[in-house]
Amino acid sequence: MGKHIEILRKEISKYLNNDNIYFHYKGRVSLYAILKAMGVGSGDEVIIPAYTCVVVPNPIIYLGARPVYVEISEKTLTMDIEQLEKKISSKTKVIICQNTYGLSGNIEEIISLAKKYNLFTIEDCTHGFGGLYKGRPNGSYCDAAFYSMQWNKPFSSGVGGFMTVKNESLNEKISELEKEKTEPGFMTKLNLRLLFFTKRYLLNNTTYWIMVKTYRWLSKNNLVTGSSSGGEISDAIMPEGFFMNYSEVQAKEGCRNIKKLPELLRLRKSNALKYTEFLKNHNKRFVAEDLFENHSFLKYPLFVKDRELFFEHGRKHKIELGDWFNSPIHPVQDEFEKWFMIPEDFPVANEASKHVVNIPTDIKNAEKLLSFIEKYIDEII
Ligand SMILES: Cc1ncc(COP(=O)(O)O)c(C=O)c1O
Repeated sequence: MGKHIEILRKEISKYLNNDNIYFHYKGRVSLYAILKAMGVGSGDEVIIPAYTCVVVPNPIIYLGARPVYVEISEKTLTMDIEQLEKKISSKTKVIICQNTYGLSGNIEEIISLAKKYNLFTIEDCTHGFGGLYKGRPNGSYCDAAFYSMQWNKPFSSGVGGFMTVKNESLNEKISELEKEKTEPGFMTKLNLRLLFFTKRYLLNNTTYWIMVKTYRWLSKNNLVTGSSSGGEISDAIMPEGFFMNYSEVQAKEGCRNIKKLPELLRLRKSNALKYTEFLKNHNKRFVAEDLFENHSFLKYPLFVKDRELFFEHGRKHKIELGDWFNSPIHPVQDEFEKWFMIPEDFPVANEASKHVVNIPTDIKNAEKLLSFIEKYIDEII
């Protein structure tokens, strides 16, 4: 175990009150390890929200199982608890609940349903590290939880993932799997260093849009270490070298960034409150205050009429805006059947994926963003 990984483990465990932490190259790799340890395989079904990233159904399919989607609630954008029970079948093995944009919803109800049907539960905390659900850290309720340290996540190590395990019956299998991880090679680490350099010295308000576009193009074509390789978006086939370990290069970056997290969490919540106030005053759709307790606001979901037009205005005014999730299984735009998904069956998720823009919550000058929104408010929202 490298020095920085050990330091990072200690830092993370302070947030989670749990030092049973396993690191992987990305969050999706941690998810794969958890599913495998739970014995998920051919003929099994795994329930997931119909508003997620394609890298969530992917590991399920890699293991020969099938993702079963559940509609989301309009208010929370997390799984609609009313719809969940109907999706449980004799083949269901696991339910994955998700901290969408930092919000965890209905965790206790999901766990009690899982108990009733004798199912495993996993919490997808990739958006929610550092946040709480009913006073306890996100990830402390389910059998296991996984987290992401990709560069837009609560704290970043470029890319990276880790998992925690609560259900002790999984530990032996997880430890066995640890021995199967491959190590990141020289080129992978070089790529990561390049990514850190670019982010630190070249990314700013002026370069944001062009950098995002360039980065996405390069990663789609597998030319840089990106969020997802082209193959992960075009097919549900496990890429070569997928089951990879975390590295010291990543952990060093993670150690720098986790220190900023307490301040960032405060900033995110206070900006979110400003956004909610603003939208309420303009009679627009807003994130309700009763959700704030369980929301760490990695992003703030803003519903707009025409996303493309809004992005165009954003580019013109050099305003950072995010486009997750632009499809029920972001960023897939066609051939949904490869992931057993029929977008039309999930009207709420489908609608959200066409109209939500994620506005940043980690900015010092939220007023600038709000005056930009105000300028176009009736045309856009
Ligand atoms: C909801 C959700 N789950 C899982 C992941 C996977 O995290 P990672 O990129 O670290 O594999 C992401 C983001 O990529 C995500 O948005």
